[in-house]
Amino acid sequence: MLAELRARARDALEPAHWDYFEGGAGDERTLRANEEAFARVRLVPRVLRATGPRDLRTTLLGTELRAPILVAPTAFHRLAHRDGELATAAGAAAAGAGYVVSMAATTPVEAIAAVAGPWWFQLYLQPDRDFTAALVRRVEAAGCRALVVSVDSPVFGRRERDHRNGFHDLPAGLCCENLRDAAGSVRDIAMDAGLGWAAIGWLRGITGLPIVLKGVLHPADAELAVEHGVSGLIVSNHGGRQLDGAVATADALPAVAKAVGGRLPVLVDGGVRRGADILAALALGADAVLVGRPVLWGLAAGGADGVRLVLDSLAEDLDRVLALAGVRTPAAVPPDLVVSP
Ligand code: FNR
Repeated sequence: MLAELRARARDALEPAHWDYFEGGAGDERTLRANEEAFARVRLVPRVLRATGPRDLRTTLLGTELRAPILVAPTAFHRLAHRDGELATAAGAAAAGAGYVVSMAATTPVEAIAAVAGPWWFQLYLQPDRDFTAALVRRVEAAGCRALVVSVDSPVFGRRERDHRNGFHDLPAGLCCENLRDAAGSVRDIAMDAGLGWAAIGWLRGITGLPIVLKGVLHPADAELAVEHGVSGLIVSNHGGRQLDGAVATADALPAVAKAVGGRLPVLVDGGVRRGADILAALALGADAVLVGRPVLWGLAAGGADGVRLVLDSLAEDLDRVLALAGVRTPAAVPPDLVVSP
């Protein structure tokens, strides 16, 4: 099903835009490794567990979801479909999935909030703290339920497909609508190699929203994140778009989950394409998954309906594999459901 949508998305998109959505950094080793790591997992199901109907409902940081599935923050949805983030928000809401709005969204958060279910906002902390604080105020006022701070991007990863295609900017008429400053001009997103843990303390001081760090791969950083009072972690390598050669997320997840030891919710993204991948992620220590490119395929192929189809199909697939594995709820997935190869 996803493969068919992917093919339709490819047909629908300009080749340079397809490459932007699909590509990774460098030789795309990490991009490939994410899917390969899930494909390597082997499951050891239990039998005769009398699960009956499964219950996929999941609550994360006070946000209730129909299944442990969220839309990962991805940029520029109006490049994928004319309805852009509005379609993504409507599709995710219809599927009962969480939606993490990217800081590089091409639609204002107020308009997204009008059609969205529960949504979180992804932030790159800007060197201009006043500007960052104003943006936080803006998304709070619009109804955002949590801030997802991407910490894997002190500089941009080198995306060679984009260099080859000369794709560096949004076409005329599109912009990052949430980066308007007080004067109404649109700022560029700045990556900040000066970012340290103090910045997380600063953010905690200016907002009451839960703060989730996205892009943690090392267990020592997971421990530091707990010490710095964050509310959740996302094990992520940015879908292979930042440090090429970085560990696959399914491989990094167990050590991070162990370091966290249940003190915070741990989410994971990168290469989740099947219900069995979600089941594996839960067994490896995650509380939920985020899905990036497949949502973009659904969006490009069919707008809000396409997004809903992707998310509903993943939830249905998870429901089926939970039954086949003899587990009734996501929280009850046991670690011994997976064996190392
Ligand atoms: C991303 N990702 C991303 N992450 C982020 O924190 N802010 C962003 O603006 C973007 N933008 C973005 C654009 C595109 C086209 C892609 C593919 C990815 C990373 C994203 O949130 C997530 O980590 C990965 O996409 C997960 O991997 P899969 O599901 O795409 O394999």
